[in-house]
Amino acid sequence: MSPPERGKLSAEVAKMRTLIANGVVVTAAGSMHADVTIEGERILQVGDGDGLPADHVIDATGRYVLPGAIDPHTHLDLPVGACTSSDDFSTGTIAAALGGTTTVLDFATPEPGQTLSGAVDTWMRKAEGRAVVDFGFHVIVAEGATATPEALAALAGAGVTSVKVFMAYPGRLMLGDGEIFEVLRDSRASGVLVMLHAENGGVIEALVHEALKAGRTAPRFHAATRPPAAEVEAVHRGIVLAELADAALYVVHVSTSGAVEEIRKARQRGLRVIGETCPQYLVLSDEAYLAPGTAPFGVVMSPPLRPAAMQSRLWQGLADGDLQTIGTDHCPFLMRDKLRGRDDFTGIPNGAPGIEHRLALTFDAGVRERRLTLERWVDAVSTAPARIFGLYPRKGAIAPGADADLVIFNPDATCEISSATHHMRVDYSIYEGRRTAGAVETVLLRGDVIVNEGRFVGRAGAGRFLARAPHTA
Ligand code: URP
Ligand code: ZN
Ligand code: ZN
Repeated sequence: MSPPERGKLSAEVAKMRTLIANGVVVTAAGSMHADVTIEGERILQVGDGDGLPADHVIDATGRYVLPGAIDPHTHLDLPVGACTSSDDFSTGTIAAALGGTTTVLDFATPEPGQTLSGAVDTWMRKAEGRAVVDFGFHVIVAEGATATPEALAALAGAGVTSVKVFMAYPGRLMLGDGEIFEVLRDSRASGVLVMLHAENGGVIEALVHEALKAGRTAPRFHAATRPPAAEVEAVHRGIVLAELADAALYVVHVSTSGAVEEIRKARQRGLRVIGETCPQYLVLSDEAYLAPGTAPFGVVMSPPLRPAAMQSRLWQGLADGDLQTIGTDHCPFLMRDKLRGRDDFTGIPNGAPGIEHRLALTFDAGVRERRLTLERWVDAVSTAPARIFGLYPRKGAIAPGADADLVIFNPDATCEISSATHHMRVDYSIYEGRRTAGAVETVLLRGDVIVNEGRFVGRAGAGRFLARAPHTA
């Protein structure tokens, strides 16, 4: 084919029109029966699509049409001690896509001595050519990192507009209050949002030491040594540090009712505090540490699972807007790696798999159980992450000009979660046997169908890096 002919063909491809007809379009702002017309990679029109000729029609009768979901919290291909999280950007994003997630924001984690932008380069090499959905990065600012104002400004210039700091994991990741204060203050100047892992690392360290000395080595002691108050205190302290620095703060993986209360009070005082929770804290409880066999190893994560009584406060927090986002904190390890901590729970790599089931779980336990409206649900899994992390209105919206990242969700389908059928590269599921009402059927990424009736049909490397705008709140 001659170059002019090829040029003509790609122009035609770029103009391909797809009509998603007869669905209920759900956005954070409301729901309505409407067609969505896509031209090339973007949404052309929302409304009656009859007047516009289309090359391809997808019938969404009886389905919800949602903006592609954004997972603001994943750990793909992450080295942790002697092992590495078991999903890379290929398997992890395929599972994400099958679950309705079209953008992941992953944590680039510097090796000791590596610069912040060096970590971004490393993560770019992991993601490019593999990711099947769009991606962006946060960067972890760990102990010993050089997070100068210039380094933070350079990140922002490269479209990486969020960093995470830790109040836990002393000797590895934990920063002191003064250091966190400085990161908050210096990040604000560059429009970089600081995300906080809020657990009191010093107290946890003391409790862990005592537990091991007393021979309490089983996985349940991981939870016992990270009590709810260790999170509540840290969230409170983080909020005070953010107030002192006049900076916004994003609290990751909120797991306790007390932490929701701290965030609510701060927001009522007008502070720019944002809270994220995760499906595992919404639907699982600390009883999982008492299960027989190896299952308790699989739910060792930080913060740990909490008493079931706390779940209703998390749901209420999402419903009332005290919590803004639902991320997965997807950090999977093969069971053989989890069992490295067979004789000592501190040897169990922290984290659990979940990237594939965020929408199904939170629709089922949230919307179907009337804890969340459809709109609040869409906001928490898509629109709020887009706004907070500098992607809106390109992502998180169903509106003319937005990327045509769309999910066709069948509220009447059911699915049963099992490691035998999931697509994450991990040999167990923390939700094994759980049935959900509602399932993702079809997913489009920038106009291309990447999941067709529950089957992945996308292409390795089709995901693009998203340079994000500065955080402005
Ligand atoms: O246990 C967890 N959540 N591991 C992942 C790292 C983190 O703190 O988010
Ligand atoms: Zn964390
Ligand atoms: Zn995490």
